[in-house]
Amino acid sequence: MFVTLEGVEGSGKSTQIERLCASLNAAGRPVTLTRQPGGCELGRTLRAILLSQKSSGLDDRAELFLYLADRAQHVAEVIRPALESGQVVVCDRYIDSTVAYQGYGRGLDVALLTRLNAVAVAGVLPDLTILLDLDAAAGLSRAMARNHAAGTAASEGRFEAEHLDFHTRVRRGYLALAAAHPQRFVVIDAAPVPELVARAVWQAVSARLGG
Ligand code: TMP
Repeated sequence: MFVTLEGVEGSGKSTQIERLCASLNAAGRPVTLTRQPGGCELGRTLRAILLSQKSSGLDDRAELFLYLADRAQHVAEVIRPALESGQVVVCDRYIDSTVAYQGYGRGLDVALLTRLNAVAVAGVLPDLTILLDLDAAAGLSRAMARNHAAGTAASEGRFEAEHLDFHTRVRRGYLALAAAHPQRFVVIDAAPVPELVARAVWQAVSARLGG
């Protein structure tokens, strides 16, 4: 089973993914926890480029192809083999991030992005996508506080530096994707305390786990 988590900056994905993996382990399910960008060696190099504020001059199309390159290599090297060996794969961001950020955020053509995503993933599609939905302004202030505390603003702050409008479009993009793929998406309100969000996430995942 392949589960992806999506959401705007500060929506609490990292916390929820950790909790979800702990619950899967407790249920005796072997898990591969991974992320995009940065779930394989090539991806870690690409992540450093993509998220650095030094890359502020990166062209929108160049940015797109770096995310797609990360995705193609990550699917081939990590996700497909893990699924084939019977693991539950939990991936922090996947195809929907490209549609939400490069499509709704940057303004690239969504239909084209959908086709390019299909090339990158070569048929490896999520069984379930959890969207942690949060008001963009609330998410941004959470993300800023986290980055400040961790001292990561300079190394991974490129998207947080985008204006609120950008993040509001990203959120709208996610909600449009969820409406277009109601079978695959479960939308969870990320505003409540983490315990409540975790309970909703586990409900969504365990309902689809099967034997
Ligand atoms: P995160 O892993 O800390 O959530 O950060 C990844 C950043 O990269 C986040 O701002 C969203 C962005 N992103 C895209 O713009 N397009 C993509 O396809 C992916 C996977 C991430």
